Amino acid sequence: MKKQRLALFVSGTGSNALNIATYFWQHHSIEIGLLVSNNATSPALRAFEKMLVPCVVIDNTQAADGKFLIDLCLSHSIDHVVLAGYLRLIPASFIHVFSDRIFNIHPALLPKFGGKGMFGNRVHTAVLEAGDTESGITIHLVNEHFDEGRTLAQFHCSVNENDTVESLRMKVQALEHAHYPEVIEQSLHKDTHV
Ligand code: GAR
Repeated sequence: MKKQRLALFVSGTGSNALNIATYFWQHHSIEIGLLVSNNATSPALRAFEKMLVPCVVIDNTQAADGKFLIDLCLSHSIDHVVLAGYLRLIPASFIHVFSDRIFNIHPALLPKFGGKGMFGNRVHTAVLEAGDTESGITIHLVNEHFDEGRTLAQFHCSVNENDTVESLRMKVQALEHAHYPEVIEQSLHKDTHV
């Protein structure tokens, strides 16, 4: 059986991408076929190169070029795309080709604290400033609008008065690492009835 091939897109540290790659290492039906980063200094690049996963660094022009990204993914036989802290808007033509096959993770309970410019610690700062008593993660499919595609799963954590941006970030990251790979796996298995 041909394995389902994932492309991982990152902009930052890439801890989710590494966690996903570890989860699917020697998996029976899913493999990582490509890492794409729009940040040449992402530590994920060296780690994925060591795992012999093809890595491609893209610039802002390429990130906005749907045809470039489609050709890149198709040339690596990619079936599904996983955004893991990738902060550029995905071009509409790319979403059209990979319709319902692009996953994203957001570090809050959408639709709260989402949209353009809401990423990383900005999200946690907004949650703390709003005085919310819970936060969490949303795993969703990607459409043309930032953080608005169909929700696949949400997981919650508490927020208390002693929390700081850093402590909340750690709680949310623990949820991301615990759940993102298995939500991807379940969603792909549903697609292929494996
Ligand atoms: C993650 O917390 C992810 O949810 C967030 O960026 C972080 C990347 O961390 N994504 C967004 O904020 C998207 N709006 P990582 O590079 O260590 O995986």
